Amino acid sequence: MKATAYVLLALVALTGVVVYMAHASERSDEEADLIFGIKIPPGYRDWKLISVAHEEGNLNDLRALLGNDTAIKAYRDGKLPFPDGTIIARLAWSYVPSEENNKAFGRAQSFVAGPVTNVQFMVKDSKKYAATGGWGFAQFKDGKPDATAALKTCFPCHEPAKARDFVFTQYAP
Ligand code: HEC
Repeated sequence: MKATAYVLLALVALTGVVVYMAHASERSDEEADLIFGIKIPPGYRDWKLISVAHEEGNLNDLRALLGNDTAIKAYRDGKLPFPDGTIIARLAWSYVPSEENNKAFGRAQSFVAGPVTNVQFMVKDSKKYAATGGWGFAQFKDGKPDATAALKTCFPCHEPAKARDFVFTQYAP
C-alpha cells in the first residue's frame, strides 16, 4: 500500500515537471507576432527550398525561401491562389566574404551566409486574413516577434505581386 502511494506521488511530481517544461518551452520560442497572431511554425528549418535571393543596399543579405508541404505542392502544380494552410518562410543571413573559400579559389570571389538577420513568414488563411489578401505576415529575430510596427508595411509592399497571389518569389526548378 505504502509503495503504491510513493509510486503515485512520484507520478504526480513527474507530470508536474513535464507540464512545467512544456510551458517553459512555449514561452521561450512560441511568442506570437502582435498583429497577425502568428507563432514560429515548428520545424520550418526543415522545409523544402523554393528559391534563393540576394538583396544589396541596407539589407545586404542572402536569403532562402522555404515552403511547407502545402506551399511546395501548390508551387509545383502551378496552382494559384495558394490554398489555406500555405506557409512561406523567408530566412536571411548577412552577406559576408569567406576568407577560407577565397584562399581555396586563389582570388576574392566567395560570399557566404553570415549571422542570421531575421526570419519572415507569410501564412495563408483566406478568412482570418481577408483584409490583407488572405495572408498573415510575421517577422522574428532571435526567436522573438520583431518589427511590429513594420508589419503594417508588409502587405502594401507585396501588392505589386497581386497577380501571383501577392507572392514575389517564383519556384526555382
Ligand atoms: C519594400 C517592400 C517590401 C516590404 C515592406 C516587405 N516585403 Fe516581403 N518581399 C518583398 C520582395 C520584393 C520580396 C521578394 C524578393 C526577396 O525575397 O528579397 C519579398 C519576399 C517575401 C517573402 C517570400 C515570399 C515572396 O513574396 O516572395 C516573405 C515570406 C515576405 N516577403 C514577408 C514579408 C513580411 C513578413 C514583411 C513585413 C515585416 C514584408 N515581407 C515586407 C518586398 C517587401
